[in-house]
Amino acid sequence: MGEPAAPQGVPSPSLLEALSRRAPRLPLHLPAHGRGRGLAPGLRQLLQLGPGSWDLPELPEIGAPLEPEGAVAEAQRRCAALLRADHCWFGVNGASGLLQAALLGLCPPGGRVLLPRNLHRSLLHGCVLGGLEPLLYNLPFDSHGGLWQPPSPRHLEQVLIAAAHGGTPVAALVLLDPTYQGLAADLPGLLAVARGPLGVAAAGRADGLPVLVDQAHGRGEAVAAGADLVVLSLQKNGGGLAQSAALLAQGPRIVPEALERALLWLQTSSPSALLLASTAAALEHAHSPAGRRQRQRSESRARKLAQRLTAAGLPLLPNADPLRLVLATAPLGINGLEADAWLLERGVVAELPEPGALTFCLGLAPPLALERSLPWWLKQLRRSLGKAPLPPFQPPPLPLVAAPEWPLGQAWRAPSERIPLAACQGRVAAAPLCPYPPGIPLLVPGERIDAARADWLAQQAQLWPGQMPASVAVVVEGPGAEIRVRR
Ligand SMILES: Cc1ncc(COP(=O)(O)O)c(C=O)c1O
Repeated sequence: MGEPAAPQGVPSPSLLEALSRRAPRLPLHLPAHGRGRGLAPGLRQLLQLGPGSWDLPELPEIGAPLEPEGAVAEAQRRCAALLRADHCWFGVNGASGLLQAALLGLCPPGGRVLLPRNLHRSLLHGCVLGGLEPLLYNLPFDSHGGLWQPPSPRHLEQVLIAAAHGGTPVAALVLLDPTYQGLAADLPGLLAVARGPLGVAAAGRADGLPVLVDQAHGRGEAVAAGADLVVLSLQKNGGGLAQSAALLAQGPRIVPEALERALLWLQTSSPSALLLASTAAALEHAHSPAGRRQRQRSESRARKLAQRLTAAGLPLLPNADPLRLVLATAPLGINGLEADAWLLERGVVAELPEPGALTFCLGLAPPLALERSLPWWLKQLRRSLGKAPLPPFQPPPLPLVAAPEWPLGQAWRAPSERIPLAACQGRVAAAPLCPYPPGIPLLVPGERIDAARADWLAQQAQLWPGQMPASVAVVVEGPGAEIRVRR
């Protein structure tokens, strides 16, 4: 999340100054290497060489992600083998860039792709680039924590039935696992549904629905579960630098040449050797005995901390990743954004504030002060801001599966005007409404806003103070405007 914001009127430090400053009291945000403490050892050694000596171009001995020979190709082959995938490509534009390439490599232009409502916004950008039609599927919602939940296999069955309605085949299904808050899905169960009769019917192909799993917050477990494509972000759940990422692929449903073509279109022609090495070092370390011991140590500290916090009456949301500590702020009567601002002023920097929860990323080598400081500050937070529990959050009023009324890219590029949320009923969104983090759009370009959605969005603006505007960009429809409604 960064350091406490400078008060208004005080000039910001230069970027170099900002990066050279001492760490705040308790930085509990991404990257997971935690200001270098948990960096993959090979990467740490590299960074200790003469500054810049490692910043090399695609010399023959080094190569690049799309070159068949060289150190990068070798490292990609080793990482594919470690994760038991057929192919691995490194990326230097984060999970965002590789999710986009994955979509373009998996779906033909105009293809329909099933995307979860809690998708990262980069997937929408991928749909625009590939001219794809997003079929947005709704998810179970926890009204107490205000969080979207992973779908169950039964839920996915209903989604596929709804998606098959209308007859046009679905090109791909995107799953998100785990979520930013460490909530994990039953991946084998979900993949079995995608490969079963309902997946076959939705995809209109005998081998079932191709599946891309966004594992930006995961460690590649989706490969073993049978996903066709998996995207990892090595700074979120590994010891890599920001922007290091990997795309893993396996099985007969993928076409490697199509993926390579998409990577060629979307990735820089001068990939940073440092970021490529960061991906390789982080993946190899995670699968080494030393890497496993490091994670076990950190997870054991995290579990003990969670027990202490719970014993102190501080409510945590249960999840599958001990290194993502999710404080349920709603039962304490505190909006997570308010809690975050209060803690930030005191040097405790969380990763993800949301209306009902505050997620701390403890990282692969949590700060030494963690156990001493965090319980104390959270008790102070409760004492200072705690009130009666917040009322339950209203689930988003969304159909199980829906495509935007206007084609996504067309709505996004259409003549638009900005109007107050209070006046948006009946209008078509021209841009996403997307608090960041987590970067999950609450409204997608091309969606027509009905009365229930307009009310819900107005409520969201209250719940995300400072993170979401009270206005929205909408398409100017009518005579003179370019209107090409899909159906
Ligand atoms: C679920 C999810 N997917 C993808 C991304 C994009 O990752 P990156 O920032 O590495 O591009 C994020 C970023 O927060 C995310 O939360």
